[in-house]
Amino acid sequence: MDAPDQTNPSVTTRWESLTAGRSGRRYADRFAQLAAAGVDVHGEAAFCHGLVPAESRILDAGCGTGRVAIRLAELGHRCVGVDADPSMLEVARDRSAAVSWVLADLADLADLADLADLDNSVGANLAGLDAPSPFSRPERAAISPATDGPFDLIVAAGNVIALLAPGTEAAVLCGLARRLAPDGLLVAGFGLDAAHLPLPAAPFGLMDYDGWCTAAGLTLDQRFATWQGIPVGPDETDDDHPDHGNGGDGGDGGGERPADAPGYAVSVHRASA
Ligand SMILES: C[S@@+](CC[C@H](N)C(=O)[O-])C[C@H]1O[C@@H](n2cnc3c(N)ncnc32)[C@H](O)[C@@H]1O
Repeated sequence: MDAPDQTNPSVTTRWESLTAGRSGRRYADRFAQLAAAGVDVHGEAAFCHGLVPAESRILDAGCGTGRVAIRLAELGHRCVGVDADPSMLEVARDRSAAVSWVLADLADLADLADLADLDNSVGANLAGLDAPSPFSRPERAAISPATDGPFDLIVAAGNVIALLAPGTEAAVLCGLARRLAPDGLLVAGFGLDAAHLPLPAAPFGLMDYDGWCTAAGLTLDQRFATWQGIPVGPDETDDDHPDHGNGGDGGDGGGERPADAPGYAVSVHRASA
């Protein structure tokens, strides 16, 4: 079999294969139900907030319905949310004008000099998604002083990296790394087995992820098993932990892994100073 093409952004994301790009409302409803049941759905935002100074520039990569970016904006940060699924971004846009929302494929970030121009180039950058950008330039310009970065922190929560198009992970991580400020942080949380993913098996492991980050010029800073900062370790096997970040997209399988291996990881990588 041929090696995956790490440069072609125009392939279908795993998320799109799962949802056909129509799950925005359903996804938001699921988190609303969790919140109503008393589950903390803001663990990712709280975790990121704890890593950066006030009023940081934050990119929510694969922002979905805006759960993380909206909370971070409420906490005082200047946030941009990027997602390729119009149904998800439509919900985000309805929910908050405090974040700058950008419809784009993360695989294209490396090539785009100016995110603020994305509403002009969105057709070219979203092969296969024929919805026009719902975001007008004046609206975005009015709400975001930090659309292009560089970003103090980029967060990819909710299995985003595991749900990219197969073979584009290295290119996406390169693009994200280029958007980071010196010493900036890339924070990503994703499942390591089927129990923590909406997939039959993990598409890659932490060694692959760390390798892509290293190739992108990033260094591993910290790693946890949950967004509440529980260390990765033999005791971390609680698949039902509400704050793994899989409330809306976790799988129900029971993938094979050693009994003492964590099923989820939150990784913090740092750009050079
Ligand atoms: C499970 S949702 C997580 C949404 C959000 N981060 C959260 O935690 O609630 C995964 C998201 O990743 C997005 N995604 C996957 N691949 C992408 C890509 N190449 N470019 C932009 N967004 C992508 C999907 O469109 C989807 O909204």
